[in-house]
Amino acid sequence: MIALGCDHGGYNLMVAIKKYLDEKGIAYKDFGTDSDASVDYPVYAYRVAKAVTEGGCELGILCCGTGIGISMAANKVKGVRAAVVNNEFGAEMTRRHNHANILCMGGRVIDEAQAVKFTDIFLNTPEEGGRHDKRVAMVTAIEDGTFEG
Ligand code: RB5
Repeated sequence: MIALGCDHGGYNLMVAIKKYLDEKGIAYKDFGTDSDASVDYPVYAYRVAKAVTEGGCELGILCCGTGIGISMAANKVKGVRAAVVNNEFGAEMTRRHNHANILCMGGRVIDEAQAVKFTDIFLNTPEEGGRHDKRVAMVTAIEDGTFEG
């Protein structure tokens, strides 16, 4: 199950992403927004972050104008690793090396076709594990306040 959320700045991308998921038969929960009327991105970041960390969704996708604000808000929730992605390499590497669990994109930065492509890569790339497990665990330790740098 994929958790989806956006504000007005990312609504255009989310329409295209939902069409892609529907065509692929990939199940999702849509946490809004449902139009291009102005809303506050932290609301949607929080809903998707909670769905991923506590609500049984394996991965999430968030879109705002830049992808930045909504990623910053999502990353405040414990257990979230939200990454802003602007290219195919980033979409792949943030899954492989950072074990990202939420993909963030900006509707004023990339177009719908790019958003669908990055979504496809993100959803189909596994976590690499190995040496990256240790580094991701260090990031988690920073979050937990147990990191001894
Ligand atoms: C909304 O105008 C815009 O600030 C928001 O979509 C996002 O880009 C924030 O980071």
